[in-house]
Amino acid sequence: MWQRLKRLWTQPEPAAEEAVEIMPDNIPVHIAIIMDGNGRWAKRRGLPRVAGHHAGMKAIKRVTMAANDLGVKVLTLYSFSTENWKRPQDEVEFLMKLPQEFLLLEIEELVQKNVQVRMMGWRDNVPPHTLAAVEEAIERTKENTGLILNFAFNYGSRLEILSAIRQLAEAVQQGHLTPEEITEEDVSACLLSADLPDPDMIIRTSGEIRISNFMLWQMAYAELWFTDIYWPDFDEPLFRKAVGEYQRRARRYGGL
Ligand code: FPP
Repeated sequence: MWQRLKRLWTQPEPAAEEAVEIMPDNIPVHIAIIMDGNGRWAKRRGLPRVAGHHAGMKAIKRVTMAANDLGVKVLTLYSFSTENWKRPQDEVEFLMKLPQEFLLLEIEELVQKNVQVRMMGWRDNVPPHTLAAVEEAIERTKENTGLILNFAFNYGSRLEILSAIRQLAEAVQQGHLTPEEITEEDVSACLLSADLPDPDMIIRTSGEIRISNFMLWQMAYAELWFTDIYWPDFDEPLFRKAVGEYQRRARRYGGL
């Protein structure tokens, strides 16, 4: 009892954010989010971890709509990493069911709001029922020209870079180019994010200050923003606060 109360007192509560002034001419084009803290959010409420993932799914809806309203072009969400397969089987199975549930609930609104759904990750070991839901959403929204909602699902950055190295090594071996001719653009073109701009901003929730194998190449000049708030509590005011702070930073790309 005391332990539980102590936990409630010492964990961050979602802050009542003040309205943030956003400049419409400096909206980050691509925001990528490491959605962390679902398990701790659930634990704090005495709920099973999967309840945190379910609440996290609701936060995805809120943030997608907030990003769309602001005119963000790409929202990448780290939804399942290549390392997450190591979690207990029932948790993995639950996570594999969430895209189905999310898309069943939200697809009509996503279509209507001109959102384009994409997946960035390896499709091979994703269960057919998960993949079918995602592919259907991709198909139904492929002509949409608004926000790109990019699910990093079964995604890992080192594997992505390794795959790029292999593609380029193969091209060299076949005589299509020399090692000296390989450019940064060639590497970017071999990544799963090939046709997307690099993220301008990376957000991580839950108080962890690390990157966890996420978009390592692409984030070279991204602005990093961390909050103690657990992902299921993430909401539009906090999203706007993050964008407001992004707008106050001077991005110099190594220059002056
Ligand atoms: C990290 O929190 C979160 C995940 C590994 C999964 C994120 C998934 C969602 C938010 C829902 C996905 C929904 C769709 C539609 C793709 P954690 O479990 O590591 O939290 P903890 O660090 O507190 O244990």
